[in-house]
Amino acid sequence: MRVDFKAAIAAEISKAVSAKNPDAAAQENWAGFLETPPNPEMGDIAFPCFRLAKIFKKSPAQIAQELLGSLENAPLPFLSKAVPAGGYLNFYLDRSAYVEQALKPIAEQKEKYGSSRAGAEKIITIDYSSPNIAKHFHVGHLGTTMIGHALVNILRFLGYTVIGINYLGDWGTQFGKLITAYQKWGDKNEIERTGIDALVELYIRFHQEAEKDKSLEEEARAWLVRMQNGEEEALALWRRFGEISMTEYQRVYQRLGITFESYRGESYYNDKLDSVVQELKEKNLLTESQGAMIVDLSEHQMPPCLILRSDGGSLYPTRDIAAALDRKNTYRFTKSLYVTGMDQCLHFAQWMKVIELMGYDWAKDMVHIPYGMVVFEGGKVSTRNGHVIKMEDLLNEAAAKTLDIIEKKNPGLERKESVAEQVGLGAVIFNQLFNSRMKDVLFSWERILNFEGETGPYVQYTHARACSVLEKARQASLAEADWEPIWDQIVWSVLTDEHSYETIKILERFPDAIAEAADKYEPFLISRYLIALSQAFNKLYHYNPILTASPEEKAGRLALVFCVKTVLAAGLALLGIAAPEKM
Ligand code: ARG
Repeated sequence: MRVDFKAAIAAEISKAVSAKNPDAAAQENWAGFLETPPNPEMGDIAFPCFRLAKIFKKSPAQIAQELLGSLENAPLPFLSKAVPAGGYLNFYLDRSAYVEQALKPIAEQKEKYGSSRAGAEKIITIDYSSPNIAKHFHVGHLGTTMIGHALVNILRFLGYTVIGINYLGDWGTQFGKLITAYQKWGDKNEIERTGIDALVELYIRFHQEAEKDKSLEEEARAWLVRMQNGEEEALALWRRFGEISMTEYQRVYQRLGITFESYRGESYYNDKLDSVVQELKEKNLLTESQGAMIVDLSEHQMPPCLILRSDGGSLYPTRDIAAALDRKNTYRFTKSLYVTGMDQCLHFAQWMKVIELMGYDWAKDMVHIPYGMVVFEGGKVSTRNGHVIKMEDLLNEAAAKTLDIIEKKNPGLERKESVAEQVGLGAVIFNQLFNSRMKDVLFSWERILNFEGETGPYVQYTHARACSVLEKARQASLAEADWEPIWDQIVWSVLTDEHSYETIKILERFPDAIAEAADKYEPFLISRYLIALSQAFNKLYHYNPILTASPEEKAGRLALVFCVKTVLAAGLALLGIAAPEKM
């Protein structure tokens, strides 16, 4: 079991205070007061005594002194000493004891280290990726796909039951246009051959021709009506467009290791919209405005939420309301998450407010998780006019560029192509998850593929380096299978030097990084964590030779390498990134 050092200290402080004044102790969250001193000479954990000084009407320095006295016999075996200084009581960890306490949970739990049962019995739905049928899965979906996938992994690691939902954009006026274009200029074979490319061409052609020939719009509307009326000819084409699109999407998801529990898209809600409109009417929320039906949100400082268009067509918000009701019914979620670009913030704020106005108290359990844009370096987007950058092309390019690098750096590497795929994709994913999600993401090949920068490849490379050290140890000990330290023979004091200690302190806070990432829906907290751990380990590796050290040191250092390797792989896995053992 992991010892929470801060919590243990806080509990003892609370006991000491309540011995003197039970009321004061009950009021405060002492763990929340504990700080990390600005430099290690002042100890590892500090307790500021100013609050207690007020309660007991004594100076903070006096309180620090008295507290030290009360803690004299407290069971805190991982501390070497506590020293009062400037109104603080500073605690110094006993390094050997600390190192042992910090690494043992990793030895026991291995790749499960940092996981918990915090989410047991709780269900979370997460709506992410959700591309639009007959359109490419493009870089605009990078954020929702990568952030969503990382959140799925992180929440599952914490014990939640997570339902990943791909809310496909599979209904709307565009399909009427597409069917019209297909009937006029479509080529079945071309579509079989080039997939979505052909559909996009048809869609573009429709708009070009419609400029000259206004009757096309009429025709498109007629096709949409036939779809809405359930006419088989129209629906068969619509289904075919869906299948063609899914083929491309699935190729991408497979490469990224993403699967969904549900593919209920927009069309699934066609026959569930009337009852939403009915319910809104019954609850006196609908008003008419210029022929449209809206929910007035002026009291909530928002423009109205459009429920029905003047032509009777339904809208994006109405479907989202129907889908939310369906998800609550189907999954009884504790939380319902939606990951989209921040241009949809108003849309989500509006319809979620409508759910609240409908009287559903679970409206508070729905969370919109927005993110910034991908900005390509120099603003140059290398694609033909009117075309977006396809996710698949981006991934292909990432793998190809990585293969070039491997050919130069390590031409003898086995399974080069598959490592290039893992590292190339890792670079793209890591870059997407490297900053707080609201920030725009800068994309430059040079930067994201830099093996020495703050990148995915750097973390993967550090992991591979740790693996190779362990592999050498395995060979030297003639072990056949996976090599693992003999934990009860480790002399922990060999790991108390500055570099080992710094690395271990980082290892020890992995569970906190995961919990915070889940709490804030911010995978970048894990990316940053992995960079910090990689940097500490590379420094350690530079200063502490392993294979030439004394047997005791060697065993201890190898155990530490084992822990670093384990945590790097676990962290990468949470982000949706592979950790090859050689690269
Ligand atoms: N299909 C939409 C798009 O590509 C995203 C859907 C987001 N989810 C939702 N429930 N509205 O922009």
